[in-house]
Amino acid sequence: MSEQDKHIQTPEADAAQAGVMRLDQQAFNARYRLNPKVKQKPGLREENVLLSVRHLKQYFFMGKGANRQKLKAVSDISFDLKEGECLGIVGESGCGKTTTGRSIIRLYDITSGAIYYRGVRISAGDRWNRKEIKWTRIRAQEKLKALQEGKPCDETAEQIETRVRQVAETQRAKIKQIKFDNANVSRKLLNEIQMIFQDPVGSLDPRMTVEDIIQEGLRIQGFHNRQENHRKVVEMLQKVGLVEEHASRYPHEFSGGQKQRIGIARALIMNPKLLICDEPISALDVSIRAQIINLLNDLKRELNLSIIFIAHDLSVVKYFCDVIVVMYFGKVVEKAPSDELFAHPMHPYTRSLLSAIPKPNPRTERLRKRITYNPAEAHDYGHGDEPALREVTPGHFVYCNEAEFARYAEELRGAEA
Ligand SMILES: Nc1ncnc2c1ncn2[C@@H]1O[C@H](COP(=O)(O)OP(=O)(O)OP(=O)(O)O)[C@@H](O)[C@H]1O
Ligand SMILES: [Mg+2]
Repeated sequence: MSEQDKHIQTPEADAAQAGVMRLDQQAFNARYRLNPKVKQKPGLREENVLLSVRHLKQYFFMGKGANRQKLKAVSDISFDLKEGECLGIVGESGCGKTTTGRSIIRLYDITSGAIYYRGVRISAGDRWNRKEIKWTRIRAQEKLKALQEGKPCDETAEQIETRVRQVAETQRAKIKQIKFDNANVSRKLLNEIQMIFQDPVGSLDPRMTVEDIIQEGLRIQGFHNRQENHRKVVEMLQKVGLVEEHASRYPHEFSGGQKQRIGIARALIMNPKLLICDEPISALDVSIRAQIINLLNDLKRELNLSIIFIAHDLSVVKYFCDVIVVMYFGKVVEKAPSDELFAHPMHPYTRSLLSAIPKPNPRTERLRKRITYNPAEAHDYGHGDEPALREVTPGHFVYCNEAEFARYAEELRGAEA
């Protein structure tokens, strides 16, 4: 068996993979050529968590000076993905699904939060830490001013200054560690995460042949045997329903659906362990959609793939995903195991998404009522009872305030009785 086969062929790779989570720390570092100073959470590996996204924030800043604007594409989302699981992210256009996927594969330097893959921090942002220093100073100054004016205060001036110094020191150390981790990320770990991009046209270089596009990742990894690479490309093309003759053609010579398949082949040839599929079937016609879903399902079983499946309607992810995350305007509004979400949708936005799914029975379809979600009408926030992601039943999280939480819990108890 060639060196390349050892890397790509699945049964051997899988057998080795099954043991990865159980490797001791030193063997794990050696396997992934990890810098031992990079922050890790080995507990995540012990719990079989492959990917952990924690308080991810991704802001985009546009314009300069007085015209500078901040766009919160993703604001504070968290989820865990266990090995072999499939997680669906759904939400309307522009809610930050693609941005989340792109942040995971490190196309962006994330603004705040952290992403752990196999328990290793592969990406982190320091905005929260910098803000913590800034706000601690501002609040301290306010207290010092109050002290000077002779107002009562729970701390002395000396205590305030010591606390500010301590907070600044701690946060500076954390920022330093974040910079270090971002600069020393393991390529070998990152190669295990691949993404099928939403836009099949824009993600393929028009000047490269299909063969070159699919092989590119292999060459970057140091596999230069042309014959071997060609054999693998042909194998992948066949796996996604294309033929050998397509290898020498250019992207513009393909239909939208075929381009999508090229994107899938390019991701799969890297033998990923985590595949992020960003609306992989939106550009396809109905018959091919089913083929691609079946293909992904087969690959999931064959390669023990973990998948993040991004879509904008719930019907697509219903039978495919184990866990579903519903996003609205950059936030997670509901997160639950798939069956639970469909049986007991709680957030009004999730209910509106569910009401959009057509029913196969014409009689019940006629009776289907579309629910529209209007946040201003649906919620009564802003009176001190602020919304947060709360766990209504084990594993089922809803973005709600205390009053809504009590109502949802009551509804669930009623449903069970
Ligand atoms: N590079 C960027 N610079 C500035 N703004 C961006 C950038 N990428 C995305 N955005 C903005 O972030 C928001 C979220 O975009 P994103 O592409 O993640 O949405 P999405 O949920 O994938 O939508 P769709 O379902 O239409 O693909 C949008 O308002 C978008 O305009
Ligand atoms: Mg998108």
